[in-house]
Amino acid sequence: MSKIEKIGFIGAGKMGSALLAGVLRAKIVPAGKVLISEIDQARRDEICKKHRVRSASLDELARSCGTILICVKPNVVAPVLREIREFVGEEKLVVSIAAGITTTSIETELKPGVPVVRVMPNIAATVGESATALAAGKAAGAEHIELARNILSSVGIVVELPEKLIDAVTGLSGSGPAYVFLFAEALLSGALKVGLPAKEARELMVMTIKGAAAMLEADKGSHPAVLRDAVTTPGGTTIAGLHELESKGFRNAVIRAVEAATERSQKLGKS
Ligand SMILES: NC(=O)c1ccc[n+]([C@@H]2O[C@H](COP(=O)([O-])OP(=O)(O)OC[C@H]3O[C@@H](n4cnc5c(N)ncnc54)[C@H](OP(=O)(O)O)[C@@H]3O)[C@@H](O)[C@H]2O)c1
Repeated sequence: MSKIEKIGFIGAGKMGSALLAGVLRAKIVPAGKVLISEIDQARRDEICKKHRVRSASLDELARSCGTILICVKPNVVAPVLREIREFVGEEKLVVSIAAGITTTSIETELKPGVPVVRVMPNIAATVGESATALAAGKAAGAEHIELARNILSSVGIVVELPEKLIDAVTGLSGSGPAYVFLFAEALLSGALKVGLPAKEARELMVMTIKGAAAMLEADKGSHPAVLRDAVTTPGGTTIAGLHELESKGFRNAVIRAVEAATERSQKLGKS
């Protein structure tokens, strides 16, 4: 497929470098077919050395890469698109990972007819475990979606959804790892409070979250409430802990967290 000939990463920060590592690991293209454009020189040198890829100016990258991944912060997307506009035609594919930035706003900055795919991965891409959603722009066809899906599959699972739901995905899985980290932190504090040594408590906490996630994954069809119910013995320890969480508004706080992050993503897209 011609579009896969060269992949260019604009921005090689946390997410850009995670995707770059995934693409190379999955052998989607060899390192010689990857270009990065990264404004931070120390970062650029580090990534080029680590992955044996070459860096290029924005215009060289846009001219020579068939697939261009936009991995800069949302506020930098429009200026970057304006800089590459003249080099990006209908034969290319632009994939954006920027939170809140719609395919329409990307298409508006580019020439008419350029295929655009918007994706929302999460930080677990750095360990190859991202939960990613993908939405196609107006000119993106099946082959563009397939290509974007292949690239993102190198760092985890990918689901396709209508674009109107991507802000909600940001609220759930885009920001989700941070909610889990906060929960993990609170579990550790609780462990210390009841006298567990920090090192062992951390090991137990990580395995608890990992084990619960593995059970959820194994039991694909059922609601998490079924799993919770199965470990809640009448008069036992778990119901005592769960009651405390419910009475402190845990469920309500998590629901609101997803909603607030969704609203923030919607706002970012409008500004
Ligand atoms: N982190 C997440 O969990 C996550 C999840 C889903 C989606 N995203 C999206 O992924 C995108 C990148 O996030 P990130 O966390 O990877 O950010 P990041 O670590 O700050 O990476 C962005 C990189 O792009 C560089 N950059 C800025 N302007 C540039 C330009 N004009 N040309 C080339 N490089 C430029 C930045 O350099 P400077 O630092 O010097 O500016 C930085 O190294 C964002 O749009 C975000 O919404 C992030």
